[in-house]
Amino acid sequence: MKFNSLLLAATALAASAVQAQSTCNEWSPCFREGYCDSDAMFCLWGLCDEAKSFNSTSCWKPEGCASQLVTFDSSADVIPIRTYSGNPNVNPYLSIFEPDNASIVDGALKLQMNYQAAQNKGFGATADASHTIQYGRVTARVKTASVAPGVVSSFIIRNDQTGDEIDFEWVGKDPSQVQTNYYFNDILDYTKMVAYNVGADTSKDYHDYTIDWSENSIQWLVDGKVIRVVNKADTLDAATGKYLFPTSEARVAFSIWDGGNSGAQGTAEWAGYPTPWGNGVSYQMFVDSVDVKCSGDQGTQTSTDAGEPSNPTSGPEPPVSNLPGGQKCRPRPY
Ligand SMILES: *[C@@H]1O[C@H](CO)[C@@H](O)[C@H](O)[C@H]1NC(C)=O
Ligand SMILES: *[C@@H]1O[C@H](CO)[C@@H](O)[C@H](O)[C@H]1NC(C)=O
Repeated sequence: MKFNSLLLAATALAASAVQAQSTCNEWSPCFREGYCDSDAMFCLWGLCDEAKSFNSTSCWKPEGCASQLVTFDSSADVIPIRTYSGNPNVNPYLSIFEPDNASIVDGALKLQMNYQAAQNKGFGATADASHTIQYGRVTARVKTASVAPGVVSSFIIRNDQTGDEIDFEWVGKDPSQVQTNYYFNDILDYTKMVAYNVGADTSKDYHDYTIDWSENSIQWLVDGKVIRVVNKADTLDAATGKYLFPTSEARVAFSIWDGGNSGAQGTAEWAGYPTPWGNGVSYQMFVDSVDVKCSGDQGTQTSTDAGEPSNPTSGPEPPVSNLPGGQKCRPRPY
């Protein structure tokens, strides 16, 4: 489910309080959700709105897919998006909210949700992959935050602009359950959600969750076992002649958010509520590793740690830095 994470992102943008503009100038060339700026929070492909940016090359290009195993052993494996300079091999994950509550702890990515009194709800964390993917197999070793009602953990592949999305989600009211879902073009159809009982408390131990996405099908696996298959052929909408099947290039993302206090009754009932908050209470989701195998690529790159950028020898073009060569951005004029 994407709306709440977008809402959080919007909150984060508003908090950074740049002046709203209808078009962007060359010093703040990238447009996102009503604001212009020059860093990755605004220029990153998928977040940046090309039509409203300064010119057609202002938004950064998609980084492309790289088959690699990220093990979150280095602090460079996740950094605040504002500090990202455009090399996805050095910084494979970006923390996209401010305040930034994504960190590396004991060889895992930790996403933390703290209470935000002003809004009377938890403020979570989201880490987006800096590489993009368009078909491939992604396995994440995840320990969820399903320790209390209302706390939602997610592992998704999403394109924010097209609204194509493939999900694993865990709701805190049911620690042994994982839910799978997918969306095409932001069409909300919660009836496509399927729940699966993992047979263990997902917050106690790591399990492997795999999304295997091809042009023809999506498979979801838990600990190597296929739990669901959706075939593209079966998603044909007779009325429009369109396949309601996600196809657009996207990013892998992990997120923790407060579904119980979200303010939407349907969401609260889905996640469980109220989310228990109190002195010193916080909730954490952990990702031990993420293994990506790009479509058409059998091999896996290991190590993305700082200082050892990987150089794929097969598959897509090696990703390059997105920053225009030698260009220095001027300080923001506000
Ligand atoms: C487009 O904008 C970028 C900055 O976003 C600038 O570097 C480039 O020169 C511009 N291109 C044209 C053709 O104006
Ligand atoms: C979460 O963000 C707040 C505000 O920046 C910061 O004080 C706190 O240390 C962060 N917590 C974690 C676990 O990163």
